[in-house]
Amino acid sequence: MPDNLEEYPNTGASQTLSEAELRAHWMPFTGNRQFKRQPRLFSSAEGVYYTTVDGRKVFDGLSGLWTCGLGHCRAEISEAVSRQVASLDYSPGFQYGHPLSFKLAHKVVELTPDCLDQVFFTDSGSETIDTALKMARGYWRNRGLPGKTKFIGRVKGYHGVNYGGIGVGGIGFNRKLFGQAVDADHIPHTVLPENTFSKGLPDAGAYLADELEELVLLHDASNIAAVVVEPMSGTAGVLPPPKGYLKRLREICDAHNLLLIFDEVITGLGRMGAYTGAEEFGVTPDILTLAKQITNGAQPLGAVVSKQEIYDTYMDQGGPDYMVEFPHGYTYSAHPVACAAGLAALDVLEREKLPQRVKAMSGYFEQAVHQLKGAPYVEDIRNYGFAAGISLQHCPGEPLRRPFELGLKCFEKGFYVRWGGDTVQLAPAFVVTEEQIDSLINAVGEALHELP
Ligand SMILES: Cc1ncc(COP(=O)(O)O)c(C=O)c1O
Repeated sequence: MPDNLEEYPNTGASQTLSEAELRAHWMPFTGNRQFKRQPRLFSSAEGVYYTTVDGRKVFDGLSGLWTCGLGHCRAEISEAVSRQVASLDYSPGFQYGHPLSFKLAHKVVELTPDCLDQVFFTDSGSETIDTALKMARGYWRNRGLPGKTKFIGRVKGYHGVNYGGIGVGGIGFNRKLFGQAVDADHIPHTVLPENTFSKGLPDAGAYLADELEELVLLHDASNIAAVVVEPMSGTAGVLPPPKGYLKRLREICDAHNLLLIFDEVITGLGRMGAYTGAEEFGVTPDILTLAKQITNGAQPLGAVVSKQEIYDTYMDQGGPDYMVEFPHGYTYSAHPVACAAGLAALDVLEREKLPQRVKAMSGYFEQAVHQLKGAPYVEDIRNYGFAAGISLQHCPGEPLRRPFELGLKCFEKGFYVRWGGDTVQLAPAFVVTEEQIDSLINAVGEALHELP
C-alpha cells in the first residue's frame, strides 16, 4: 500500500477518514490494496440510491448485497428497530425468549411452503448453512443412521464462508487457502453452451441432475446426509435451474433417503417473483435457508426452516425434558432487534405485494438486460425474476480483470453493480421503476463499450 493515500484523491474518502483509519479495517471479499488506494465509501442511502461521502448519488444495482429489495431506509423498519433497541435491546436466546422471535417464526412458516413448519434463527447466511448441515447430520444420527454424514453440493455453488459452507460450496477460490472443510462431493454445475443467452429457465440440462445417481453409486446413500443446492445459483453469476432439474433432484433424494436442502439466502423472500424459489420452481426441500432479505438487510439475521418431522425426531430423541435437544445456537440467535426488523420487513413485503410486483415486471427486466447481447465482451446473459448475470470474455490470463474494470466504470457513472468471477450481477430492488432499469442497463452498456 502506498504511504500517502493523498496520491489517490479521486473519491473524497480523505474527507472522512484518516490514513490510519483506512488502514485499520481488513475488509471482507475486497481487494484491500486497491480499495485503500481508491476507496468507495457510502454515507447514506434512500430508496434505490446510495450517496457517497463526496455527495454523489449512486444507483443500487444489487439491492445492497441482494439484501435490500424493499429499497433503503424504509421508515417502517428503522422505526421498528429504534423502538426495539430502546425497549428490549438484548434478550438471552438460550433457555429464555421474547415474543418477537415466535411471531417472526410464525410469519416465516406462513410464507414458506406448506410442510416447512419449524424455524431456527441464526445471524447470517453462512450460519444458516452450517446450522442446516448440523441439523441434517444430527437428524440421521437420531434416526439411528449415524453413517449418513457426507454432503453433496454442486460445482459453482455458494453457501457462505464458514467451513461447512465452503465444503459443500463449489467455488475453489473460496477454499483453496483454507484446507479441509466438511466431507463433501459435488454434482456438476448446470452451465451448458447450448443454453447461452437463455431467458428464464434454460431448456437443456435436467439430465445433469442424474449425476447425483452416480455419486450415490460411488458413496452409497448410507453415507450421505443431504444434497445442498441453491435453487438458482446467485454468486456464481445467476444460474437459473434448467427446466425439470430441481424436480429430478427431489426424486433422486426421495429414492435414496437423502435430505434436500435449498439454500435460499438469495432466492428467498421475493427475488424470484415468489416468496421462495421452492414455491416458484414447484419443488419443496426438507430444509430451506433464508437470510439477507429477511430484514431487508437492516439487521443481521438468518433462518433455517425445516420440516416438522426433523424437529419431531430431535424432540423424540431428546432425553429428559430438561435436556437440550439440539446443542446448537448463537449468542445473537433471534436477537430482538433483528426480529423486530424482520417482522417490519416481511410486513412491507406482503403488504406491498412485492414478490408479485417482481413477477409482473420480470419480463421488462429480462428484455432490458438481454439488450446487452452483442455488446463488447458479452459471452452470455442469464436472468430470472429480478436477477441477472452477464458473463464476460476473459482477458488473456486474467479471467477476473474485466468484470472488475466494468464494475469500477459503472461506479464512476453512478451505478453500483457486483462483479465476481468472470461475471457481473444485477439485482435491482423490488420497487425499481422501468426507467431506472433502463438507466442501469444503459450504464452497463456504455461501460462495456468503454472497456479496453
Ligand atoms: C446462497 C447463499 N448462501 C449463503 C450466503 C452467505 O450469507 P452471509 O454472507 O450472510 O453469511 C450467501 C451470500 O451471498 C448466499 O448467496
